[in-house]
Amino acid sequence: MLDVSDIASGYGETQVLYGLSLKAEPGRVLAVLGRNGAGKSTTLKTIMGLLPLRGGTVSFEGRPISGRTPFDIARMGIAYVPETRDIFPSLTVKENLELAARRFPCPPGGWTMDRAIALFPRLGERLSNGGNELSGGEAQMLAIARALLMNPRLLILDEPTEGLAPIIVRLIHDKLAELKHQGLSMVLVEQNFGFATSLADDVVVVSKGQVVWRGTAAEIRADTEAQHKWLGV
Ligand SMILES: Nc1ncnc2c1ncn2[C@@H]1O[C@H](COP(=O)(O)OP(=O)(O)O)[C@@H](O)[C@H]1O
Ligand SMILES: [Mg+2]
Repeated sequence: MLDVSDIASGYGETQVLYGLSLKAEPGRVLAVLGRNGAGKSTTLKTIMGLLPLRGGTVSFEGRPISGRTPFDIARMGIAYVPETRDIFPSLTVKENLELAARRFPCPPGGWTMDRAIALFPRLGERLSNGGNELSGGEAQMLAIARALLMNPRLLILDEPTEGLAPIIVRLIHDKLAELKHQGLSMVLVEQNFGFATSLADDVVVVSKGQVVWRGTAAEIRADTEAQHKWLGV
């Protein structure tokens, strides 16, 4: 579904990714793990066209996405929830949701505002609140709901549990499990090993801008040596 092959990327003079390759398969969840600074967020930003590709190829459903704008890539069917969540602070929750719904057509049986609010009832109670009035958990729910309103075939999340209380982490886990159950394909970058491997089917571990381990979630859960070596778990 998503085929990232031998990519190079970085910032200015600094190269961060050195021939990184990974694949996300339809209906499956791929976890991208690795220590802080390994290049996980850089990988996602490069996939989304937020950083220029300096080498290698990225294709989605067989179509190359290199050189396309972030908006075009989103329209092709990939929604991205950045680490920063990027909620519009001066817009209300409702307006944040409407903005996504308006820009992306809803296919039959797709994600509507009502369906997104049914998934996150808390957002329904906060519709008239400003984006800047939300707790961290609410902002993450809004960021995910907004991504779903783009009706993606692939959802990419960068550290969705970062900075959240355990009870909210549990809630986000259950919602993502529900989306997986509905057949949504996902790429999940996470520091929380238990969270990531309980949701994921497939796992890649990134270190110094390359994939150093790949296998299934069950395999890495059983491989304490790999956990220790690459993740410091
Ligand atoms: N905007 C930036 N400008 C320069 N270097 C950056 C920038 N963002 C990240 N980096 C560097 O790129 C490397 C990889 O960062 P990142 O992809 O964010 O890692 P991860 O998400 O795995 O923690 C780090 O060494 C980091 O310092
Ligand atoms: Mg990161």
